[in-house]
Amino acid sequence: MTTATDSAPSATATPRFTSVEDVLTKLADVGYLASEAIATTVFLADRLGKPLLVEGPAGVGKTELSKAVARVTGADLIRLQCYEGVDEARALYEWNHAKQLLRITAAGASHGAGEHGGEWDEVRDNIFTDEFLLARPLLQAIRSENPSVLLIDELDKADVEIEGLLLEVLSDFAVTVPELGTLTATHRPFVVLTSNATRELSEALRRRCLFLHIDYPHAELEQRIITAAVPDLDASLAESVVRLVGRLRDLKLRKSPSVAETIDWGRTLLALGVDSVDPAVIRDNLGVLLKHQDDIERAIDALDLRSA
Ligand SMILES: Nc1ncnc2c1ncn2[C@@H]1O[C@H](COP(=O)(O)OP(=O)(O)OP(=O)(O)O)[C@@H](O)[C@H]1O
Ligand SMILES: [Mg+2]
Repeated sequence: MTTATDSAPSATATPRFTSVEDVLTKLADVGYLASEAIATTVFLADRLGKPLLVEGPAGVGKTELSKAVARVTGADLIRLQCYEGVDEARALYEWNHAKQLLRITAAGASHGAGEHGGEWDEVRDNIFTDEFLLARPLLQAIRSENPSVLLIDELDKADVEIEGLLLEVLSDFAVTVPELGTLTATHRPFVVLTSNATRELSEALRRRCLFLHIDYPHAELEQRIITAAVPDLDASLAESVVRLVGRLRDLKLRKSPSVAETIDWGRTLLALGVDSVDPAVIRDNLGVLLKHQDDIERAIDALDLRSA
């Protein structure tokens, strides 16, 4: 496989957003409450036509951001979930060998195996066509008839080799399948790459992206997120949720509670039907917020919950 490098991509360049404010409003309309920094970077990624590389701890809304952009723009979300060992065949395309084999066998049966060289040439030409091509996410995004958001999720989990492939594809939005020719994107996808930074991504890849670090939201934003996600939760309870989560994050635990856990905790209080958060409620339900026993023990000591 090679990719085209000679020409600029013939992609549509209609901006998706008119301003940073427009990003903020539209994302909020689909339930994603962005900080000014997030909205600004999304706006610029769109305007500059660059991939957006989003790093940050687990559960702060990295993946959700790309889903929200897809919802806002009515685009298809095409996702490449990375894992150790993900390769070109899983990321770009592969040939459907089983189907090719069936076609060869069928051709052999109807003509008598190995009879004529010319027939074999014909079969060979036939089995390297679209019908036998399995497009994986990168190729799907390039060939998509509709506008798309391409999410390359948890890239740090993939082996470093995949970054070379991404560099080629993301610079041209074109892929050459030797048997089919060069396939070029009609709609340049909005590309989001996410990473938990468990390994360093290459400088070459970083250079081609706009970089966005998403951290735990500040209290005011988190309060708005939980209110939007759990609208039936009383405002004072929502405030206490945010305060508790903030205190737990200050403890520097093995795994701090993320936005996802904040929302779960809000739902928990609603399900329990409590109207105030007393220490016993916290102690008995800490497993919603913390996922390691030693973190729970530390929190119980730090928040003085043992006698609750
Ligand atoms: N700004 C936000 N507005 C609304 N909801 C949010 C926001 N940030 C996070 N969430 C909520 O938190 C949940 C977790 O977010 P998400 O799955 O995107 O985290 P992540 O950063 O991709 O985590 P991981 O690194 O574990 O994959 C989402 O399902 C969403 O409900
Ligand atoms: Mg994620």
